[in-house]
Amino acid sequence: MSQATNQSWGGRFSEPTDAFVARFTASVNFDQRLAPQDIQGSIAHATMLARVGVLTDDERDAIINGLKEIQGEIERGEFNWSVPLEDVHMNIEARLTEKIGITGKKLHTGRSRNDQVATDIRLFLRDEIDVIEVELKRLREGMIELADREAETIMPGFTHLQTAQPVTFGHHILAWQEMLARDHERLLDCRKRVNVLPLGAAALAGTTYPIDRHVTAELLGFDRPTENSLDAVSDRDFAIEFTSFASILLMHLSRMSEELVLWTSAQFDFIDLPDRFCTGSSIMPQKKNPDVPELVRGKTGRVYGHLMSLLTLMKSQPLAYNKDNQEDKEPLFDAVDTVRDCLKAFADMVPAIEPKKASMYEAARRGFSTATDLADYLVRKGVAFRDAHEIVGQSVAYGLKTEKDLSEMSLDELKQFSATIDQDVFEVLTLEGSVAARNHIGGTAPNQVRAAAQRAREALNVLKAGA
Ligand code: ARG
Repeated sequence: MSQATNQSWGGRFSEPTDAFVARFTASVNFDQRLAPQDIQGSIAHATMLARVGVLTDDERDAIINGLKEIQGEIERGEFNWSVPLEDVHMNIEARLTEKIGITGKKLHTGRSRNDQVATDIRLFLRDEIDVIEVELKRLREGMIELADREAETIMPGFTHLQTAQPVTFGHHILAWQEMLARDHERLLDCRKRVNVLPLGAAALAGTTYPIDRHVTAELLGFDRPTENSLDAVSDRDFAIEFTSFASILLMHLSRMSEELVLWTSAQFDFIDLPDRFCTGSSIMPQKKNPDVPELVRGKTGRVYGHLMSLLTLMKSQPLAYNKDNQEDKEPLFDAVDTVRDCLKAFADMVPAIEPKKASMYEAARRGFSTATDLADYLVRKGVAFRDAHEIVGQSVAYGLKTEKDLSEMSLDELKQFSATIDQDVFEVLTLEGSVAARNHIGGTAPNQVRAAAQRAREALNVLKAGA
C-alpha cells in the first residue's frame, strides 16, 4: 500500500490517491472544528462497547486516556492535522493508534464515519444552540427593560413609513421583543430534533455487534437514539431547521437594524447610539455611522444563502449517506457564528439606545397623528364614521394650509368643520390622550406597555427555569 493512500481504507486500492483528489475530498481544514465533539462521541462509544463486552475495561481505559491526551494536544495547538488523512475523524483515530498501538484500531468497532459525523454535528449544534439561547435571552431581557423604562415616551407610529398614529417607544420595542419570543420558541423546538443520537446506525444498516444505543444516548445527553439507521446517517434536516430559525431571526434583526439606521439619521433624529457602536468616516469628519446595525442587516443575506445551500444540498439525495453531506459543515458553521455575533451585537447595543424624547414627540405632533382620534371623537358624538373621516380630512387640509397641528387649532377653527366639536375635543387631540386611550391588551397605552413588559419578563423566566 502506497504511503499516499489513506491507511484507514487503502486496503483494496492499487494506486495512491491523486494529490488533487486528496485535497479536493478532504474536509479536515474545516471539520477539525468538530474535534471536541468527535472525542466526546468516541469516549461514549468506547464506554458503551466495554459495557456490552466488545472491549475489555483495559482497552476502554487506554482508548479514553489516549483520546484525552489528544484533546490536550489539539487545545494546545500541538496537533498535526494531516490532509491525506482526510477528515477530523481519521486524523484523531490515526493519532490514537500512534499513541496506544493496536488497541486504538479497535475504537471504530461497530461504527462508521457516517454515523460518527452525524453524531458530531448534532453534538456541535446542540452546544451552539445553548450558547445562542443565552444571547437571545440577554437580548430579550434588554428589550423588556428598555420598553419598561420608555413606557410613556411618545413617538410617531408608522404605516407605509408615513406618520400614522402616536405610539409609545416602549410599545415599539415590545413589538421587536415579540418577534424574538417566537424565534426563541423556534430555536428550542429545533433543539428537540437535534438532540437524538445517530451513532449505532454505522454505515447505513446498523451493526452486528451487540451495541446498546440507549447507553450511548444517555452518556452523550441525547433524548433517545434515532429510529432508523438509513435515515440517521443521511438526515440533515435538523441543520436546515436551524438555518431556517437563523434566517427568520436575522430577518427580524434586519428589520430592527433598518429602523435603528433610520432613527439615528439627522432626518429622523429619534435616538442616539453610543459612540462605541459606531464608526467615523475617513473623509467626512462630521460622520458617525451606525455600522453595527448596518452589518447585521447585511449579514442577513449570507444566512439566507446558507439555508438555500443546505436545502439544495439535500434536494433529491437518495438514501443513505452521500459524500455531498460533507458540504453541510461550512454553511452550518458560518450560520452559527453569524447568529451568535449578531445576537451579541444586539444584546450589547439595545440597552444602550438613548431615545431623543423631545425629537420623537415633536415628530408625532407634526404629522397629524391624532386625526383618527378626532374621527373617533366625532363618532362618539353620533357622527357616522365615513362622515367623520371626511370632516377630519378637511381639518387636516386646513392644518396643512395654515401650518397648524389639530391640537393647535382654536375651538372656533375646529367648529367650522363640525358643529358637534366641543371644548372636550382637546383631551383627545393631545398625544398623551391618544396613546392613553388605546387601553386594552396589546394596545400602546403606557400602563398596557408596563403590564406587557411584566408578562414578557415572566414568560422569559419560565423559559429560563425550564432550560
Ligand atoms: N468527512 C465526511 C463528512 O463530513 C465524513 C463521513 C465520510 N464517510 C465516508 N464514508 N466517506 O461527511
